Amino acid sequence: MKRILVTGGSGFIGSNFLNLAVGRFPKWTFINVDKLTYAGNPLSTQSLNAATNYSFERVDICDETAVREVFLKFDPHWVIHFAAESHVDRSIFGPRDFLETNVMGTLTLLEACRGQWSSFDDRLFYHVSTDEVYGSLGAEGLFHETTAYDPSSPYSASKAASDHLVRAYYRTYGLPVKISNCSNNYGPYQFPEKLIPLMILNALEGRPLPVYGTGENVRDWLYVEDHCEAILMVADKGKIGQTYNIGGRAEKKNIDVVTAVCDAVAKATKRDPGDIRSLITFVKDRPGHDFRYAIDSSKVEKELGWRPRVTFASGIAETVDWYLNHRDWVDGIRTGEYKKWIEVNYGQRGQSR
Ligand code: NAD
Ligand code: TYD
Repeated sequence: MKRILVTGGSGFIGSNFLNLAVGRFPKWTFINVDKLTYAGNPLSTQSLNAATNYSFERVDICDETAVREVFLKFDPHWVIHFAAESHVDRSIFGPRDFLETNVMGTLTLLEACRGQWSSFDDRLFYHVSTDEVYGSLGAEGLFHETTAYDPSSPYSASKAASDHLVRAYYRTYGLPVKISNCSNNYGPYQFPEKLIPLMILNALEGRPLPVYGTGENVRDWLYVEDHCEAILMVADKGKIGQTYNIGGRAEKKNIDVVTAVCDAVAKATKRDPGDIRSLITFVKDRPGHDFRYAIDSSKVEKELGWRPRVTFASGIAETVDWYLNHRDWVDGIRTGEYKKWIEVNYGQRGQSR
């Protein structure tokens, strides 16, 4: 019997985590604490509304009073901290929200744990972080847990700062913490500003597929459900004070990801793959664009027996099917405020999408 406080549970990875864990652990109670920014969507956790072990609080994690109230009311054993501003492009357009939520929001949660937990026994603060804190790799090599931090974007700098803060709370106050740094996730419920869902929806709608630079940049792709399984394992069996790298064993050049999406969309909609590939448009590169990310996940694999189960090909096919079959979720996002926002911000870069 545990009480689990999940921050950012209405976002992409957080909602997948809750959709997996709430049903699997009926004796545990879950509270989702989310501000519902543009990236948070109540539809993503709609199926949990009937569950008696799930509740939701609309709270900004930077709001000390509101966070303290939630802690007093719920007294969590575990805090699984997903809430963040998460998109690199947005952090380039405007870094302030990233520093506020990712650093000061994390500080507010850490302070709540330190102040409210009368004993640290059976307690855990779990920080969900990114491999982007390690900066960029060249053609060779992998990120290890010991790789020095060298973030490039305001997003990754804010995540690096919050990782350091979490570690400082372990060393200074003995707060029981764990951190995992994972590679690029994809799958259902991802906001369609990130590469894969953007390409799926643009391909379905016959719009240009904007590839930055030459499309040679490399990312490692992790299916979101595999990531959520890893988080559950690390939270349960990982060592306090430790970091775990989590990767998908699926390194790909962006251009190969985009062509794979084109072909999966063509197959699912019985269209000509060549027609869809012809939508690929090379556009001006992202400033400070990291060349390559690649993860060594051997620690979590050897110590905890975790392995990614979903191959890139099957993960992409499932993701395309999900976006095809969830038009209500998609349409609410693709129109309205988000449409206006991309016209203004990407328009200044001379890009349409
Ligand atoms: P997301 O942008 O889809 O969701 C973020 C969620 O946090 C949203 O529901 C949003 O409403 C909420 N939120 C934002 N600011 C908040 C605030 N001040 N108070 C309360 N809630 C707030 O993000 P995601 O892709 O699900 O990422 C989750 C976590 O995983 C983040 O910490 C991110 O850095 C990390 N991560 C993501 C990826 C990836 O590929 N998506 C990879 C590595 C690490
Ligand atoms: P993204 O999904 O934004 O994740 P991150 O920047 O955190 O890795 O981008 C993934 C890769 O795809 C990255 O190398 C940038 C590239 N990209 C494009 O080429 N075009 C796009 O429209 C977007 C959003 C990303």
